[in-house]
Amino acid sequence: MNTSDIVAALTRIYEEETPSQEDLISLLSVSDDAGLRLIFETADRVRRRHVGNTVPVRGIIEFSNYCRNACRYCGLNRDNRALRRYRLDRELILDAVDAVEGEGVNTIVLQSGEDGALDPSWLARLIGEIKAQADAAVTLSVGEWPGEYYRLWREAGADRFLLKHETANPSLYEELHEGAAFGERTAHLRLLKALGYQVGAGNIVGLPGQTAKDLAADILFMKELSVDMAGIGPFIPHPHTALAGVPEGSLVMTLKVVALTRIVLKDVHLPATTALGSIHPLGREMALSAGANVIMVDITPAPYAALYEIYPGRRGAGEEIFRRLAAIRQIIHSCGRTIASGRGDAIRLCKKHPED
Ligand code: 5AD
Repeated sequence: MNTSDIVAALTRIYEEETPSQEDLISLLSVSDDAGLRLIFETADRVRRRHVGNTVPVRGIIEFSNYCRNACRYCGLNRDNRALRRYRLDRELILDAVDAVEGEGVNTIVLQSGEDGALDPSWLARLIGEIKAQADAAVTLSVGEWPGEYYRLWREAGADRFLLKHETANPSLYEELHEGAAFGERTAHLRLLKALGYQVGAGNIVGLPGQTAKDLAADILFMKELSVDMAGIGPFIPHPHTALAGVPEGSLVMTLKVVALTRIVLKDVHLPATTALGSIHPLGREMALSAGANVIMVDITPAPYAALYEIYPGRRGAGEEIFRRLAAIRQIIHSCGRTIASGRGDAIRLCKKHPED
């Protein structure tokens, strides 16, 4: 693609209600420096116009690494016997929430493996306590559960739900997730939306057998679902999984997916993911300059954070919470941005301009 073809395709995917898969595939194949710069700078402009310069910080507590699933890429898969499993009790979780009080962390993300022993009432009580203790939004990232659980947690005060679709190619999805169906995943996402959650999806870039067409489908799927948030990260092989020998996802391809998602979805929250920061020391800075606007800080207490090993080498996992917070601030400031003062709700729910 020459420069004018790239500009024309970028304009179309920005303006059209339903961008063409062909345009996205062509843009995903751009690899020369000038072409990449054009894509990243366009995404950066769209980000500034639609979500502004402030960066909402989400504090994530990984409260259990038990999992009943056997996702072929994930280190938490139930067949990984080498992993020491843990569950955090209520006190440890509330202490972690307390520790970031006044630090600009205005969303608490409660994440876990799909822990078969999860007690829905326990989680509902915890949500209520967090909402009473902190002036923060609560996001759940706990996998697939019956609709009545989602309803209970929503009534307890949970604001958002993160359920990554991982890949929008149904046969690849089903190869990677034994016994699961892509149609079920989308049904859960639609139910969560109907229950009034702000909903996040997202995909992994660089899965074995994945094509540019699949990645274009990921972007169009998230557009069609009109997600409030999209977490996009590279695949990182974990030694205790079936995909141990597969090469990691490419930094540049992941950045292209982030950038094109910004241009197509416009007012969505896009995190500069920890996975990007784990495959390159400046991965998150690059993402924030190519369309991303949100960052997550792991606030899981120190001995446990390292055991939440979805992939190896997770950045920051071995450090104390205040050091992880300092690292996040440094990233934000080095990109010429500031920490958002608000909760970082879905842009569609913000009446004011996000900068205010
Ligand atoms: N590489 C990259 N991302 C992974 N995840 C799990 N395992 C890996 C891996 N090996 C991501 C999935 C999951 C989230 C918690 O972490 O997208 O939804």
